[in-house]
Amino acid sequence: MPTMIEVQHLTKKYPGSVVAVEDVSFSVASGEVVGFLGPNGAGKSTTMRILAGYLSPTGGEVKVNGLDVVRNGLEVRKRLGYLPETCPLYTDMRVSEYLRYRFDLKGPSRRHRRAGVERAMERCGLADVQNRLIGQLSKGFRQRVGIADALVHNPDLLILDEPTIGLDPNQIVQIRNLIRELAVSHTILISSHILSEIEATCSRVIVMHKGKVLESSPLNELSHRWFSGSQLRVEVKADAPEVEETFRSLDDVKSVTVHQEDEWACAELTFVTDADYREEVFLCVQGRGWILRELMAKRHSLEEAFVNMTTGDAGS
Ligand SMILES: Nc1ncnc2c1ncn2[C@@H]1O[C@H](COP(=O)(O)OP(=O)(O)OP(=O)(O)O)[C@@H](O)[C@H]1O
Ligand SMILES: [Mg+2]
Repeated sequence: MPTMIEVQHLTKKYPGSVVAVEDVSFSVASGEVVGFLGPNGAGKSTTMRILAGYLSPTGGEVKVNGLDVVRNGLEVRKRLGYLPETCPLYTDMRVSEYLRYRFDLKGPSRRHRRAGVERAMERCGLADVQNRLIGQLSKGFRQRVGIADALVHNPDLLILDEPTIGLDPNQIVQIRNLIRELAVSHTILISSHILSEIEATCSRVIVMHKGKVLESSPLNELSHRWFSGSQLRVEVKADAPEVEETFRSLDDVKSVTVHQEDEWACAELTFVTDADYREEVFLCVQGRGWILRELMAKRHSLEEAFVNMTTGDAGS
């Protein structure tokens, strides 16, 4: 796969000496959909702004489609669509008028303007409000105009900085579906604090923390890197202390926590290896003659991985 984004030793220092991005390197292959994660202030928006050519780096090199974003800013902007964190929309323009204006600014041939504007409005569910003033739209619809703006010139690369922020749950689902559709024919870098959204749309994540890249790996490899030991959830009809003592005596058990819910003991077991211990646990429960109502392997969530990565020693 050819490389779409190549970032090498990128550093950005804002006036007033905040080092927002420090020696960051990563790449994104053409066709990839990558989630950009990190706590507040990690440097995601700064990196995205530089990628989109709206902010100049202090050091390092950033290439999009082989072109340097500083030296070939205009050319790069034609090929990428950028949804900034706070979208600077012209509030006294009508939706379709604004999108036509933005299309012209990005510089492709006018011949494609009508089709581009209509396609972007249709994809973002804006057809019904195309003649409304942007200033009179709700926040969610303004966000859609921002996404339509990013799409209007049909770029190969989309850089979306928190595209679903401020949207209601229905709109979040719609935008997520839209991103999935766009993923078929675009390279996408998307930042979000909604981790389920990243899981639903991306195949790889890049995690930033305190201006640095902490992690860059496919989603399905994250849990192996950030967790060790399988976990089970078990519920049996018995008393919690007895259940706890019994499970602690199993081979390979690292920790057991149990709480009582009426006559049911609900246990969380963590083991020292990643093996599947369900059979051992079932046989143990059977041996005690307990009634079993749940025996479930817990999947590690991206939330847990994120917390493990960005708290404690990992980030410092
Ligand atoms: N224009 C600016 N001038 C000075 N410092 C800035 C500016 N913009 C951002 N910063 C600082 O740079 C650091 C990184 O900010 P950035 O907006 O890139 O983080 P982020 O990862 O996008 O965070 P969030 O999740 O809150 O959007 C922060 O410490 C922030 O205060
Ligand atoms: Mg941000």
